Amino acid sequence: MTTPAPLYLDCDTGVDDSLALAYLLASPEIRLVGVGTVSGNVDARRAATNTLDLLALGRRDDVPVAVGAHDPLRGVYGGGAPGVHGRNGVGDVVLPSSGGAPEAVSAAELLLRLSDEHAGRLRVVAVGPLTNLALALRADPTLPERVLDVTVMGGAALHPGNVSPVGEANIACDPEAAAEVLAADWDVTLVPLDVTMANLLEETDRKALLEAGTALAPRLGEVLDLYFGFHAPTFGRRCSALHDPLAAAVAVGGVTPTVAPRVPVVVDATDGPGRGQTVCDLRGRYAGYPDVPGARTRVVLATDAPLAPHLMERLLTL
Ligand code: BDR
Ligand code: CA
Repeated sequence: MTTPAPLYLDCDTGVDDSLALAYLLASPEIRLVGVGTVSGNVDARRAATNTLDLLALGRRDDVPVAVGAHDPLRGVYGGGAPGVHGRNGVGDVVLPSSGGAPEAVSAAELLLRLSDEHAGRLRVVAVGPLTNLALALRADPTLPERVLDVTVMGGAALHPGNVSPVGEANIACDPEAAAEVLAADWDVTLVPLDVTMANLLEETDRKALLEAGTALAPRLGEVLDLYFGFHAPTFGRRCSALHDPLAAAVAVGGVTPTVAPRVPVVVDATDGPGRGQTVCDLRGRYAGYPDVPGARTRVVLATDAPLAPHLMERLLTL
């Protein structure tokens, strides 16, 4: 049996972040060795509390959690998304308090520490604004030498944005950070709205979570209630897009990208209407999306199977 790969998760916990975190706990291919939080869906401190509470429910309160950046590289935190994730980030559900505390170091410091401890093997999954990753790169530009791969939920390639006509939330919250992360000396797999909006969780799934009779899964079912309501006008029924868990599953290998060209991706960090856009060079569309030589970002446009059945199988074990 192969040793599980050490994985650092950076997140803004967050309803779908909670699903991604739980999925990673249930995935034998990896071992979660640390979580850093960032302001996005909620502020970074609240995201850390949510993470600690979820880890305790998943019996993994040994995982270190570090509070990361409160504000983006430029400007200030925008106040979260209470209508989407609830005022507390977990759908306004009051989770049992873990009683745990975050680490004394920042998320960027935790990431750097883990990259030393697991040099050459550490996998990074980022499902919130990319501020912590950018800060870690600024503090130590050699970080990419010690990281095996980076998977990011973010961006919109051929799909409209979700916070502006072209901006996806994670990238648009901190375009300067996203630009630095995508320009760094490492390969990034970008999991954009193009695929995450095509992977849905349904009410039958939520009911199954609620009835699981385990410690964590029923709480996830409760947490999803508000999020399902938010998605109803978009999809015509209560359900939810699976943004962050899809990125986690792509990283773990639970689903496999089938169309994922390596192409130049530039983040628009100007102050114009394109701010936050991931400008992906997909002009190879009519030639079967060949990789562009020298490009470091793989943009996932299709996967081999729907995520929900695989995700549910794993979540129901928790
Ligand atoms: C992303 O933004 C957040 O609201 C979600 O948690 C996800 O990471 C989707 O655009
Ligand atoms: Ca998120």
